[in-house]
Amino acid sequence: MSLINLLRPIEQDNQTVSLLDATLAVAPYSGWDKVNGLSVEATRIKIVDACHKVSSGVADDDTPSTDPPVDAPIANNYVGLEFTGDFSITIVLSIPMDGDVHAILWGVVPMLQDEWQSDNNMLDIEVNVWDESANSANDTATIWWTSSNKNSGNKSGTVDFYSGATAGDPVTVVVSKTGTSYTVTANGKLAGSWTIIASNAIFPNGEVYLGFYADKKANFGYVTSITATAVGTGSTVRRRNMGPPFAVVTEDSLRYQAATNYPDTRIGTCVATYPLAMDRQYAQRLGRDFSNVTPENCMKFQFLQPYQGDFQFNDADLFVNYALQNGMRIHGHNLVWFDSNPAWLTGGTFTAAQVQTIMETHISTVVGRYAGKIAAWDVINEPFKGFTADHHASIWFNAMGANYANLALAAAHAADPDAKLFINEWGCEAPGTKQDALYSLCQSLLDAGAPLHGVGFQMHEDMNDPDFPPGWPQDTGSVTPEQVRTALQRFKALGLEVRVSEMDVNLHVIYSTTVQAQGDYFRDVMAVCVEEGARDFTMWGFTDRWASNQAYYEYYQYGNAVIFDPDYNAKVAYTEMLARLGTPPA
Ligand code: XIL
Repeated sequence: MSLINLLRPIEQDNQTVSLLDATLAVAPYSGWDKVNGLSVEATRIKIVDACHKVSSGVADDDTPSTDPPVDAPIANNYVGLEFTGDFSITIVLSIPMDGDVHAILWGVVPMLQDEWQSDNNMLDIEVNVWDESANSANDTATIWWTSSNKNSGNKSGTVDFYSGATAGDPVTVVVSKTGTSYTVTANGKLAGSWTIIASNAIFPNGEVYLGFYADKKANFGYVTSITATAVGTGSTVRRRNMGPPFAVVTEDSLRYQAATNYPDTRIGTCVATYPLAMDRQYAQRLGRDFSNVTPENCMKFQFLQPYQGDFQFNDADLFVNYALQNGMRIHGHNLVWFDSNPAWLTGGTFTAAQVQTIMETHISTVVGRYAGKIAAWDVINEPFKGFTADHHASIWFNAMGANYANLALAAAHAADPDAKLFINEWGCEAPGTKQDALYSLCQSLLDAGAPLHGVGFQMHEDMNDPDFPPGWPQDTGSVTPEQVRTALQRFKALGLEVRVSEMDVNLHVIYSTTVQAQGDYFRDVMAVCVEEGARDFTMWGFTDRWASNQAYYEYYQYGNAVIFDPDYNAKVAYTEMLARLGTPPA
């Protein structure tokens, strides 16, 4: 991949840009052929099964959420448009009878997490052609559009635009922006026209990101062209075709200093796929400072296998390719968990033997695909319920009992004998019931000869939590660095590798007064890791712009638990860590 190909500047007034030009696809990130749920044919793109039901999650006490699963588009092409002034975008679709597809234009980089997706600043256009079987003259086509904006709320409209529709006829949808006014037409018929005040613009940053999805596998349709035109004097459009650039690793980086002074311990973070693909600053900063990466969500069960037997690897591949091209070690996450399972699995009626087969097939398919590329896996994620020694009553445990762990490890080991296999858990850094339970589990697995190689301690920590009792220490997190050291030593004595896997330090409301304490805490826990030869010190995100410590739907605005602020400015934690890594071992 080369930087030269990333942008093809086409910036003249009133220029039309084709966004469906296969020659613009720069492997592996920006081509439409690399998008989950889309398949590229000779002259068109098929939109199929591009939507999965995001599970609404399971609480830590095993109570399932009462929220219904939500439809989440998983077809997002990471291709977008940069504009100044005004534009119109023309999307030509071809939809078979009973087809129903969505085209989405996002104004800010969208975000998809386990239980939710960001739908701020977007225009969702659904086009449906359906069959009035009694009288084909009444077959019809309808367009619905919804524009969402978190400040001004939703606006929506609909129009039947084609009586006597013939399946497969081209449907031409045009979205025009003129100042703060928008219109949508379908086959020349006005479907809606509306105005949004400037500060609430749908496309506030001069960017449009495109995505497509179908609600159901059966409702597929096709895109045959997408073009964007700059409208009016001084307006410009150009394709924003970004692949994450190669990292530039300078000496003043965590990555460089760790590699120089503490080569046994890599500095890691989890990685969110959408920002990796769409936010250049994110990709650059990631490559500069980190040498170990964990996929935040894109390798969870519901993302990799949204339909039974139908694996969707494009997002995971994007992540893996980036990491390998940038010389990073990958820690896979995760194979077997009580949470983040797809609705077909949690809502299905499977026998115990079938559940075991589903688990083993999932593991062997995923681990096998990335054998030799992913160095380590969280095979068992969060086995214990709350702070107890009880296993979660997960679909896996309910079918196989505690033996699910042995079976899962065996399947992973068979698929990649070189991968290091981990259990990953929270709440085990301090001594107590849960740490003892994890220790016993590891011991019994090792006694049984299971291929278990390591343990990850998550370390999602808090400071200033208003829910904590008065007097709760403000200057340390809930777990002391020395407790972490003791935990690492305890599990190392079993012959296991150890790592900190998901550290973040939520400062809650009292941000400004405790950044130094937060920085000291990150530095001290990292120091324990390098001193103990932990495999890596991994944080759960690195910028408040995208880290999971956010109010839902409000990313860019809240959250303060990681080491860069939303604008990628280093916090105290970063400078403290950098200084510590720059100090060679005594
Ligand atoms: C979290 C992600 O950060 C969120 O984006 C997602 O919505 C929920 O899951 N323990 C784990 C991680 O093992 O997978 C979780 O990640 C955080 C807790």
